[in-house]
Amino acid sequence: MDAFVIHGGRRLRGTVRIHGAKNAALPLMAASLLTDEPVTLRDVPRLADIRNMGRLLDVMGVSVQRADDGPLHLATHDSGKCEAPYDIVRTMRASICVLGPTLARRGEARVSMPGGCNIGDRPVDLHLRGLKALGAEVGLESGYIVARAKRLRGARVFLGGPFGSTVLGTANVMSAATLAEGTTIIESAACEPEVTDLAHMLTAMGARISGAGSPRIVVEGVDRLAGVDHTLVPDRIEAGTYIMAAAITNGDVLIENCPTDSLTAVIDRLEEVGVNLEPTDGAAPPTEQQNLRQSVRIASDRRLEPVQVVTQPFPGFPTDLQAQIMALLCMADGNSIITEKIFPDRFLHVAELLRMGARCLRNGPSVLVSGVHHLEGAPVMASDLRASAGLVLAGLAARGTTTVNRVYHLDRGYEGMELTLQQLGADIERVDVPAA
Ligand code: EPU
Repeated sequence: MDAFVIHGGRRLRGTVRIHGAKNAALPLMAASLLTDEPVTLRDVPRLADIRNMGRLLDVMGVSVQRADDGPLHLATHDSGKCEAPYDIVRTMRASICVLGPTLARRGEARVSMPGGCNIGDRPVDLHLRGLKALGAEVGLESGYIVARAKRLRGARVFLGGPFGSTVLGTANVMSAATLAEGTTIIESAACEPEVTDLAHMLTAMGARISGAGSPRIVVEGVDRLAGVDHTLVPDRIEAGTYIMAAAITNGDVLIENCPTDSLTAVIDRLEEVGVNLEPTDGAAPPTEQQNLRQSVRIASDRRLEPVQVVTQPFPGFPTDLQAQIMALLCMADGNSIITEKIFPDRFLHVAELLRMGARCLRNGPSVLVSGVHHLEGAPVMASDLRASAGLVLAGLAARGTTTVNRVYHLDRGYEGMELTLQQLGADIERVDVPAA
């Protein structure tokens, strides 16, 4: 099993180019089920989750091809397959995003019910509620969600839940509604840039969608969708992770292809911490379009100020950067409070940070982080993708050697993370550790 061995204490210097967003790529790949024409996706990162989605689409009758670093080509060759099998779905919860497109285009979908994971229970009730509102019959048979509808009908759908909206639920309902008869209004829709990117791609395929990026999305159904050639939005979470890697090592890093307008809340918190992002191509004027790509240079003060962070749905501070900012705040000069409002149990990294000498005290969905002068390297265990990223950041700043075990979690969401960090001057290597 692969692990990262990090000798901490090196300042990062150099340039990183941000890849296309994993969390945009997955529902966009699934949307290829909505058409018989070819779909080309550009700037798709090379990640385990992307390969898993490719495997899933393959068994569902969509061929997925890619030459070296080129675009991903998807083409339906068998529209009779409706089943997303347990064996693949259990490797990746995001498989649920084939549900809406398969149902809408093929009249039936059988998708293995995703289980919980290390960040919480992760129910899919809102996805199912949304598809039922569009007229689907939805049931559970032997662990499979089974949804049927000859043709979906437009309706008003409310997607608010106890923790806000649902990102993949919005993707599912919006995708399904593109081929429904009549108009669908999604209230309390997720506003995340990945949903907006999906809306842009579907619109280019012939869908009629307005309001994406706001809590009310209106979809007027059409009879068919065409193929498309689409470039993904840059990955705001990958960008945020490298920004914080630069900050925690007091480095000097240029981030290219950075979606700064999708990182407003993150930039706001970081400025208060004492980390500044300077656009090197001049400050862009504010625009309504959520698709800005900039080059930004990270410059940080040696002294990091403590702050309060609350994770929230977009445009709030993303839960997917909570572990990384916790690592950074472990080195701040005072007490910070981090409150998790999306996944209140997403704190498995706390116990591992404590092993590195951090001072963190969890109380329900909040963690009090008291800054320390330095972290000490230690063997730590990664529990999920973003928690692992937080531990790598802590390892980059720590004195001595940190071994981050189970980096297969990181390979799900960061393309060649150790290579990128090596290029920036970090002392990090991937080693094969025999499973205990
Ligand atoms: N929820 C419900 N019912 C539902 C769906 C969600 O109660 O039917 C709850 C969840 O339990 C959670 C909240 O609503 O408390 C938000 O969950 P959401 O459905 O938005 O999460 P998701 O769509 O399954 C995506 C990302 C996650 C990211 C979350 C929140 C993908 C593939 N995954 O998940 O990314 O944390 O949105 O922003 O897009 C990651 O990349 O590491 C990752 C976990």
